[in-house]
Amino acid sequence: MSTMHGQKVLITGGSGFIGSYLAMALLKKGEHVVLFDRDPDLRRITGFGAQFEPFKKQLTFVQGDISLLAHTLAVFDKHEPKGVFHLGALLSAGAESNPTMGFQVDLVGTWNVLEATRLYCQHRNAAPIKVMFPSTIASFGSFIAPGQKVKNEDVQMPTTMYGTSKVAVERLGEYYSAQARQWVDFRAVRFPSVLGAARGPGGTTVYSTLMIQEPLLGKAYEAYVAEDTRLDILYVKDAIEALMQLHDADPATLRRRVYNIAGIRSGDQAPSAAEIKAAVEKIAGPGAITFKVNQTLSDIVHTFGILDDSAAREDWGWKGASFNLDQTVADFKAELDAFPDRIKAIELFGA
Ligand SMILES: NC(=O)c1ccc[n+]([C@@H]2O[C@H](COP(=O)([O-])OP(=O)(O)OC[C@H]3O[C@@H](n4cnc5c(N)ncnc54)[C@H](O)[C@@H]3O)[C@@H](O)[C@H]2O)c1
Repeated sequence: MSTMHGQKVLITGGSGFIGSYLAMALLKKGEHVVLFDRDPDLRRITGFGAQFEPFKKQLTFVQGDISLLAHTLAVFDKHEPKGVFHLGALLSAGAESNPTMGFQVDLVGTWNVLEATRLYCQHRNAAPIKVMFPSTIASFGSFIAPGQKVKNEDVQMPTTMYGTSKVAVERLGEYYSAQARQWVDFRAVRFPSVLGAARGPGGTTVYSTLMIQEPLLGKAYEAYVAEDTRLDILYVKDAIEALMQLHDADPATLRRRVYNIAGIRSGDQAPSAAEIKAAVEKIAGPGAITFKVNQTLSDIVHTFGILDDSAAREDWGWKGASFNLDQTVADFKAELDAFPDRIKAIELFGA
């Protein structure tokens, strides 16, 4: 069996929030990156400005839809990736407001990516390539008590299309990677809510980003949860680090294909909305953040629990989130100041 593959790294959903940070990190490591996304708005990448400029020749954009197998096969055929970060998805609110499309993108789209990878490797008689996948805390379901620690192998009983798709993909990834088949080398992380500059509007947890971003941009923000609501949150730079570390991990140490990644801790708990507000006010001053509970959204936020990432620590040496709340807000501010054009890529405010 040959191990020859191309030189490019494929990022599906590469125009998005996490995809753009990942692309920038990979470009800086010298990788050639192919962004595959149905959204051709690349301002989250080009908005890195002078930081992006030296690397732009290393970047290719392909507009396409992962839910169409022909599009997905074509990108593999043309660009011969040596690895895949599969981030293309409809997030929770999008998948819930249109469950048919949620199924098509999140489940069928991911099956297409796995199939394209399998066919690509088999056709070349080559070793399986890595397919990195971000699953979610929402895959565990809605029966979890606030603050409850969710272990890596806890029962997953999601009630949303988003969560249901993620669990199905986790199991599909294990199937495709099983010793008997070895069609792909699937590796996944389960993130809590990921926050950072230029996050899109698609999740029920987006208030945690907007409570920081809006005041730092000089705007008021009314949070839709109560001040004492706690939410497991992870800064996007730690999320990228987790994806890259698991990607590079020695397969001999990996006893699982899917790993919980815990967010920022305040003592043993996730930060409350009041604590986020206090951290923001240290930089933005008081008054910008108010609270008005939207019961439906708030009820969803209360059912997530907090992730226990001891399996990731044991198996591949994950050290936990490196950004605490104050460091997150300070770095968020630095990102907004340095890359204001990235914010223009999102249609969010006032929506
Ligand atoms: N943001 C979070 O808090 C969070 C938490 C856990 C897991 N995740 C996962 O991380 C991944 C990236 O999330 P994000 O926050 O960057 O979201 P995002 O919405 O910013 O990015 C998703 C990208 O996928 C693209 N996309 C959607 N449908 C597509 C299709 N049919 N074909 C091609 N591209 C398509 C979108 O255009 C977008 O650019 C997703 O899989 C998401 O479920 C995110």
